[in-house]
Amino acid sequence: MIEPHPHSHFLLLLLPFFFIALPAASNDSTYPNCPSYKCGDVPISYPFWINDSESTTQFCGYQGFGINCSPILNEIVPEIRLGGDSYHVQWIFPESRKISLVDEDVLTVRPGPDRCPRVRHRINLQTLPLNYTSHNVNITFHFGCIECPDFATEIQCFERKSCLQIMNNGTDESDWDEFSCTGDVVTTVIRDNINRILPNLSTTFGDALRLGFELEWWRMDDCDKCEESGGRCGHHNIAGFICFCSDGTTNKDYCKGTLISTIKF
Ligand SMILES: *[C@@H]1O[C@H](CO)[C@@H](O)[C@H](O)[C@H]1NC(C)=O
Ligand SMILES: *[C@@H]1O[C@H](CO)[C@@H](O)[C@H](O)[C@H]1NC(C)=O
Ligand SMILES: *[C@@H]1O[C@H](CO)[C@@H](O)[C@H](O)[C@H]1NC(C)=O
Ligand SMILES: *[C@@H]1O[C@H](CO)[C@@H](O)[C@H](O)[C@H]1NC(C)=O
Ligand SMILES: *[C@@H]1O[C@H](CO)[C@@H](O)[C@H](O)[C@H]1NC(C)=O
Ligand SMILES: *[C@@H]1O[C@H](CO)[C@@H](O)[C@H](O)[C@H]1NC(C)=O
Repeated sequence: MIEPHPHSHFLLLLLPFFFIALPAASNDSTYPNCPSYKCGDVPISYPFWINDSESTTQFCGYQGFGINCSPILNEIVPEIRLGGDSYHVQWIFPESRKISLVDEDVLTVRPGPDRCPRVRHRINLQTLPLNYTSHNVNITFHFGCIECPDFATEIQCFERKSCLQIMNNGTDESDWDEFSCTGDVVTTVIRDNINRILPNLSTTFGDALRLGFELEWWRMDDCDKCEESGGRCGHHNIAGFICFCSDGTTNKDYCKGTLISTIKF
């Protein structure tokens, strides 16, 4: 009869601790598949995720909430694409489910004498589970007008006369027909940021644009069972919807549901 080496008992005893200790050693959370990142100065966490080479196979987060973390002009900037347009992410507050974004087009003009960023498109939230918070106000630019109506402010920057209107909440009845403007675009800013510069709006509206706007998010469709079971929703390019659990397992639907390791990718 061969006695087991005395050290093997010791190793057997340690074994469960290795399993427990490993996930705990990851500083982020107990979700090994859902790491937090820092992109530049901005912490990025669930339901947002970093769009990198790994996320082409699977990601932990909501579809459309992918953030590109790449250098722009030698600066690492988090950037999200909404409706084909790029926005810089200024901050994410997961507790209050809020995110602050700035249209990339308005950032190409730096503060200084040229304070006239040109807004080129409206904000398209698509069908993502996102909406504006109550801190925002819509503003509309009308370009190439004959003159500006008294309910709007003339902008003293563009070659052709342009006007800026701060919109009321809800429907707007103002009539622009007689001013023969050639185009318009609506965007959104933080109400306090525009109120602060009202006296000099015609020359400093760019400052409010560069401070961005706020969105809030809500739970993505089909994610209820997963999040309510303590999981985090994600996506796999073959399996489709997947649920990441705090014990490191991945399930097809919700935690303690169908374990996905039984599914062959
Ligand atoms: C977690 O640890 C990694 C290295 O182990 C580090 O790069 C990362 O910044 C850390 N994240 C946080 C949120 O502390
Ligand atoms: C993710 O990154 C790839 C490669 O940089 C890019 O082609 C793709 O458009 C990005 N996806 C999103 C949603 O930004
Ligand atoms: C988004 O917010 C606006 C008010 O800012 C509201 O009118 C609209 O119904 C909201 N949309 C959704 C889908 O909740
Ligand atoms: C629009 O709504 C916001 C918050 O809901 C409020 O603070 C603001 O006074 C309203 N503005 C107008 C013009 O009604
Ligand atoms: C601003 O405009 C968007 C559409 O462009 C609309 O969904 C939103 O409700 C508007 N916000 C306010 C406060 O009127
Ligand atoms: C508006 O501009 C004038 C002259 O440049 C300046 O003295 C004043 O402080 C500005 N007001 C605000 C609210 O920025």
